[in-house]
Amino acid sequence: MPPAVNQIETHLFCQRRVEHEWLEKYNVRHMAYAPLGQGRKNEMFEHPSLVEIAKAHGKTAAQVALGYLMQSGVIVIPKSVHEERIKENADLFDFKLSADEMESLVKIDMAVPMIGDPENPVMVESAMEW
Ligand SMILES: NC(=O)c1ccc[n+]([C@@H]2O[C@H](COP(=O)([O-])OP(=O)(O)OC[C@H]3O[C@@H](n4cnc5c(N)ncnc54)[C@H](OP(=O)(O)O)[C@@H]3O)[C@@H](O)[C@H]2O)c1
Repeated sequence: MPPAVNQIETHLFCQRRVEHEWLEKYNVRHMAYAPLGQGRKNEMFEHPSLVEIAKAHGKTAAQVALGYLMQSGVIVIPKSVHEERIKENADLFDFKLSADEMESLVKIDMAVPMIGDPENPVMVESAMEW
């Protein structure tokens, strides 16, 4: 049977590491929605650790943010209306982050959803109208 997929808000500031372990345990693929934080937290792309790693690999901060998730076993579905960014967001397969780089990005995690809080009933009720 093919694995099921659970699409949940996941990005550098909300990495869902605990949820990821549970999904793996039950053979459910973890798919990140809003893997770039929906552009709401622009400081994400300016985080010093991310900027330093991006520079070292000759990639953009967005590419490293997406590459980090993929290397962590998360499927990413970034969105852009700009052709150049769509290409940029697909150009993720020519670099690999070291264990130290992965560890420094783990530390960025604030572990709090900023788009859709599934534990807030008001939020869940309004989402039913989307
Ligand atoms: N299952 C759910 O409940 C759920 C909820 C939300 C979203 N989603 C899905 O998740 C996917 C992506 O989510 P999203 O659009 O909400 O968030 P996202 O992909 O995290 O962020 C999109 C934002 O990032 C900007 N962006 C894209 N590429 C960039 C780059 N390389 N550098 C800098 N900024 C960049 C975009 O701006 P520009 O467009 O101006 O480039 C846009 O403002 C969509 O397919 C969406 O349908 C699912």
